[in-house]
Amino acid sequence: MPGLELFGDEERKEVMDVLDSKCLFRYNHEHIRNGHWKAKELEAEVRNFTGAKFAHAVSSGSTAVACAMASAGIGYGDHVIVPPFTYIATIEGVIFGGGVPVFAEIDENLCLSAAGIEAAITPETKAVCLVHMCGAAANMDEIMEVCNKHNLVLIEDAGQALGAFYKGTSVGLFGKTGAYSFDFFKITTAGEGGLYVTNDEACYRLADSYSDHGHDHLGANRGMEQHHILGFNYRLSELHAAIGLAQMRKINTIRDINRKNKSHLKSLLAGTLGLSFRPIPDEDGDSGTFLNFFLPNTEIAQKVMAEFGKMGIGGFNYWYTNMYHFINQWDHLKNLKSAAPLHLHKMDLPQDYNNLNLPKSQEVVGKLISLGISTQWSEKQMNELAANMKTAIANAQL
Ligand SMILES: Cc1ncc(COP(=O)(O)O)c(C=O)c1O
Repeated sequence: MPGLELFGDEERKEVMDVLDSKCLFRYNHEHIRNGHWKAKELEAEVRNFTGAKFAHAVSSGSTAVACAMASAGIGYGDHVIVPPFTYIATIEGVIFGGGVPVFAEIDENLCLSAAGIEAAITPETKAVCLVHMCGAAANMDEIMEVCNKHNLVLIEDAGQALGAFYKGTSVGLFGKTGAYSFDFFKITTAGEGGLYVTNDEACYRLADSYSDHGHDHLGANRGMEQHHILGFNYRLSELHAAIGLAQMRKINTIRDINRKNKSHLKSLLAGTLGLSFRPIPDEDGDSGTFLNFFLPNTEIAQKVMAEFGKMGIGGFNYWYTNMYHFINQWDHLKNLKSAAPLHLHKMDLPQDYNNLNLPKSQEVVGKLISLGISTQWSEKQMNELAANMKTAIANAQL
């Protein structure tokens, strides 16, 4: 949780501005604001950092994904290619936008592969929702090629990857629309919050309205203007925006420390028998939030996790069985359990979600362990951690 690790006076100051003015709402009330527009300032910081032409702050990464889907034109019955390794919000974003998720293979880069996308295309495929997993970008040259070749709309769920770039372009800006999360666990946090980005003004206008019941926000006074589409309430409060703003101003510092610590740890672990690292197509663009590494296979990875447990060293994610980020744990999705009937219950689906054939994704996630990088580690702590990891990895392969 790097954002939370560097948290204090700056966040307090921004929040106090809001509390002192008593203006908790991002629209209107100029007379009490004392000039504070935290959501707007947060959007400006995100535009500045990522290079996005347009950014719109919303209540969560999940609602940013919903805005990304709707404003990119994803609707009833559209097939959207998604990865089986992501947070469930990606899939829910497709479903609640009226789309049909179609699962495709990831590869060792932890993101959808171009070959995986190509193999999953159906006549109804409209879009790809690419997820930049665990802090680094997908293989964008290949992904763009396949999307352009098949005329697919690209939407980027960069919920876990704010701070990651590929050949100088921020994740979230390769496709039509993109989304970042500012929840409690991200590189920068607002407590809860999300940012929608795009370079397309028409998409931005739609997302801006969609997140606020269709208000077009063109008049001086929100509430008295036109509602040109149906939308919902995905608004971010000024309190959350204030925290996100203070955090966003620290992102370069956080990223620099992350990258330095990750690089040190990697150099200590290099050459460890049986261990390899996630290939990152553009290492210079890594946000540095995670060290992702592979063991030779699922069995050894599970033994390594058991050794970590025995030695009492924590901070590792084994997504294959433990976490809520892999299809194997998504029984509710596989059985389409929902609060009320869905469009998916009433149509022929292109895949049987209970019997997906994704051997490469199973192999990759089975052998993967992820370690969250801390900005707070001393060199001594990293040296000890690496030594312990080496011992655990060796023990698991005896
Ligand atoms: C890839 C991805 N997309 C979307 C989300 C949803 O973000 P939030 O928790 O802010 O709704 C997350 C959250 O972990 C995520 O990892």
